[in-house]
Amino acid sequence: MPESRAWTQMHLFGLEYLHAEEITAVLDLADEFRPAATDPAARVDTLKGKAVLNLFMEPSTRTATSFAVAAKRCGADVVSFSKAASSTSKGETLIDTAKNIEAMGVDVIVLRHRAAGSPQILAKNTDCSIANAGDGRHEHPTQGLLDILTIRQAKGRIEDLKVAIVGDIANSRVARSNLWGLVKLGAEVTFVGPPTMLPKSFEKWGARVAYDFDSVVGEFDVINMLRIQLERHADAAMPSLREYSRGYALTEERLARTKSGCIVMHPGPINRGVELPSSVADGPASVILPQVSNGVAVRMAVLTLLSQARDRASR
Ligand code: CP
Repeated sequence: MPESRAWTQMHLFGLEYLHAEEITAVLDLADEFRPAATDPAARVDTLKGKAVLNLFMEPSTRTATSFAVAAKRCGADVVSFSKAASSTSKGETLIDTAKNIEAMGVDVIVLRHRAAGSPQILAKNTDCSIANAGDGRHEHPTQGLLDILTIRQAKGRIEDLKVAIVGDIANSRVARSNLWGLVKLGAEVTFVGPPTMLPKSFEKWGARVAYDFDSVVGEFDVINMLRIQLERHADAAMPSLREYSRGYALTEERLARTKSGCIVMHPGPINRGVELPSSVADGPASVILPQVSNGVAVRMAVLTLLSQARDRASR
C-alpha cells in the first residue's frame, strides 16, 4: 500500500494538532478500508508483524472493541487489558506499565485514561506510537474522525455544513474533537446546551453557542446528540433529567422541525429517553450504527498511518 504524504505523525493526540490535509488523509484511507472493516474475509495486512496494545483505564464498549477489531483486520497481534485487570490497580504508575509493555515489543499503544494529557506523557516515556482513545474531557480524536467520515458519506462534503453538537459540552471530549476537525474542514459548528454545561467562553474555539434548542433546531444539516456525563459532574448541573430532556432532547416533535435531510448522530452510549427517544435513535434520520461501522475503518486507517510513520522515524 502506498504511504500517505499528507500524514507524518507517529502519535494521534487530538484533532486540534492535525492539519486539514492530515484529517482528510485519514478519512480517505478509511474509505478505502471500508470493505475490510465490515468483512473479516477482506482483511488487509498493513500491520502484519506488528503488535497493538489496547490499554483502557476507563470503561469502553465501542472504542475498545473497534480498535481491537481494526488492528486484527490489519493483520496485527492484539493484546487488550483494562484497569481492573492490570497492576495499576496495585499502585503501578502508567509510565511503569507502559515501559514494561514496550519491553515486550509492542508497536502501538491505544490509551484511554481519565487524565487529560496522559497520551502525551506516555509518548514521552516510550518508543511506541500512541493513539488517544479518549483522555479525560480533552479529546477523543478517533470518535471525531469517525463522526466526520459519517457526515462526509451522508452529505458528500463537510465544507459549509451546519452542525449542531447538543448536550453536556463542558464535559465532552467528543464535542472538542468534532469541533476541531469540523471547523478545519470548513463546517460551521454550533454548541447547544444548558448554561451549566456550556460556558459562553467556548466561543473562543470557533463554535457558536446557543442555549435555546427550540429556537435553532431548524438550522442544521447534522445534529450530534451527546450523553450527560454524570460520572464527571461534581454537582447537579440540572434539577432533574426530566428537566434536561424537556429543553435539550431531540424528540420526535423537534425532529419534525429540522431541515429536510438532517441526520441524527450520537457517539454512544445512548441514555434512551434522556437525550434521544428510541423512535429517533432507531429512526430513518439516524446514522448511529453507520458511525459504529465507520469506527472500525477509521481506526484501521489511524493504526496504519501511525505505524508507517513510526517505521519511517526508526529507519
Ligand atoms: N463513543 C465511545 O467512546 O463509546 P465507548 O465509551 O463505549 O468507547
